[in-house]
Amino acid sequence: MPLPRENTHFGFRQVPLEHKQALVDDVFHSVASRYDLMNDLMSGGLHRAWKHALVTAVNPPRERGASAGDAKAGAPPFALLDLAGGTGDIAFRVVEAGGSATRATVVDINTDMLAVGRARAAERGLDDAIAFVEGNAEALPFPDRSYDAVAIAFGIRNVPRIDAALRDAYRLLRIGGRFLCLEFSIVDVPGLDALYDFYSFNVIPALGRAVANDAEAYRYLVESIRRFPRPEAFADMMRAAGFARVSFQRMSGGIVALHSGWRL
Ligand SMILES: C[S@@+](CC[C@H](N)C(=O)[O-])C[C@H]1O[C@@H](n2cnc3c(N)ncnc32)[C@H](O)[C@@H]1O
Repeated sequence: MPLPRENTHFGFRQVPLEHKQALVDDVFHSVASRYDLMNDLMSGGLHRAWKHALVTAVNPPRERGASAGDAKAGAPPFALLDLAGGTGDIAFRVVEAGGSATRATVVDINTDMLAVGRARAAERGLDDAIAFVEGNAEALPFPDRSYDAVAIAFGIRNVPRIDAALRDAYRLLRIGGRFLCLEFSIVDVPGLDALYDFYSFNVIPALGRAVANDAEAYRYLVESIRRFPRPEAFADMMRAAGFARVSFQRMSGGIVALHSGWRL
């Protein structure tokens, strides 16, 4: 007897779990060339402040590795894994904050997003510090305990099997390493919630149509935000994957939350 099919959501639509990734991939193939511009337009530049908070929490040490002139000289560089890293925004910020003692690997399933990221890295002269690797966050091609920090920004809600991605992030962290996840959340400020709903369901798809020529892609992004678990539930998923000292911080009235957990 065939097993019952497992379903999930693609935005508000129910789809078979194994179909979601291809649908998500279509979205990001379609928007890759306009992705960075759209982030600034949609968030009024706020995504920069949210990402800054994540980078501050990653806290790459400036004095480490071959460039450090103290007893730590010779230590390996601080290694960041930027999961579902797309065009590399988080990796750029962390490498710029950490300087020559920091390296980053951007992993994404989408070759078009990675191509934009590689071109940006070359423009900034950061192609030696940042590697761009095609891969699925659910099963990554890296050895256990190989990163000091694993970050994922606005990526986890697009991954079909979130529990598998969390387990793999945990596997890849060194003991004492930190996992940080920036994701849209639940607006719980009276008044702001109605305004946010109007903006999300009307303005964002219209912007998507005008700028990226794809309203549907941005409708998916808005719907997927509404389907993502509440921060308390996501914190439980992180604990189930093994993370310790799990916490989260709401920002901008709950528009986003920064989740944190440690491998201890
Ligand atoms: C909204 S973008 C975020 C990009 C970047 N982290 C940022 O903050 O600008 C989501 C990214 O998740 C990637 N993605 C979706 N499913 C994935 C998976 N299973 N494994 C790795 N990346 C995935 C998409 O290709 C896309 O680049």
